[in-house]
Amino acid sequence: MDHMIEVKNLSFEYDEGLHTIDNISFNIDKGNYVAILGHNGSGKSTIAKLLIGLLEKKSGDIIVNGYELNMENLYKVRESIGIVFQNPDNQFIGATVRDDIAFGLENMCIPHEQMDDLISTYAKKVHMEDFLNHEPTKLSGGQKQRVAIAGILAMSPSIIILDEATSMLDPIGRREINTLVRELKKEKDMTIISITHDIEEAKYADQIILLNKGKIVKTDRAKDILSDIDLLSQLKLDIPFALKITNGLKEKGISIKNTLDNKDLEQQLCQLRSKM
Ligand SMILES: Nc1ncnc2c1ncn2[C@@H]1O[C@H](COP(=O)(O)OP(=O)(O)O)[C@@H](O)[C@H]1O
Ligand SMILES: [Mg+2]
Repeated sequence: MDHMIEVKNLSFEYDEGLHTIDNISFNIDKGNYVAILGHNGSGKSTIAKLLIGLLEKKSGDIIVNGYELNMENLYKVRESIGIVFQNPDNQFIGATVRDDIAFGLENMCIPHEQMDDLISTYAKKVHMEDFLNHEPTKLSGGQKQRVAIAGILAMSPSIIILDEATSMLDPIGRREINTLVRELKKEKDMTIISITHDIEEAKYADQIILLNKGKIVKTDRAKDILSDIDLLSQLKLDIPFALKITNGLKEKGISIKNTLDNKDLEQQLCQLRSKM
């Protein structure tokens, strides 16, 4: 199997005895879109930091793109991963938005002309082209997240980790950026790990890794995990919007089919109405 990421029996603790990440194993195939879903504090960001070697595991193995993550391969592993952190303030170092998007590209030794093209192309894609000469610190949280995402996308890494990377955007902006990421993923055959507690975002994943208190509760197709209302409630996660409605109507005795898809919901509601 062509695994892009292999994690075997990984454990980590910030303080002795805490079991922050507790013996987890999972594989991610090349070109897949995987969501790591879990309540706050379940260990999602810690996994992201372990995957890029920002934190040192206690035990277990991490293999990225065929390279075992150790001191010797650290640079090779980091080369293939682009990460957008949860807090965009940790990602900004430049005097202007342009500098920030350029930062990763400069490390890749891309010629200047090509770099300018990439910067304006990706700034446009995230609708920040009018802010290229602005100071990053003066942007809103959502705007900072857009810039951070542009910077990573411009580098076209084989793997992208998005740690709650659109959490500060409004729902429409969030949908826009997530659609953009999915389009680029397809175009460039990238592997995406989306870390989130947003169920509507997780819906688009090929696979969901469901995390709770540092342990994997379940790994399955998005469809199967997100239609398990009992499991989601148990883990204090939200229920997908469409399912909430169809399930609520069913409980009221109305004949409707459970769905995760908002368009399908709309159609079913329309049909119900025409029968009234
Ligand atoms: N730097 C740190 N030092 C000590 N404990 C931490 C640190 N960062 C996170 N934790 C703890 O580790 C657990 C997992 O945190 P985190 O990976 O950030 O979860 P998530 O991203 O799922 O919200 C939480 O209980 C959190 O309080
Ligand atoms: Mg987190």
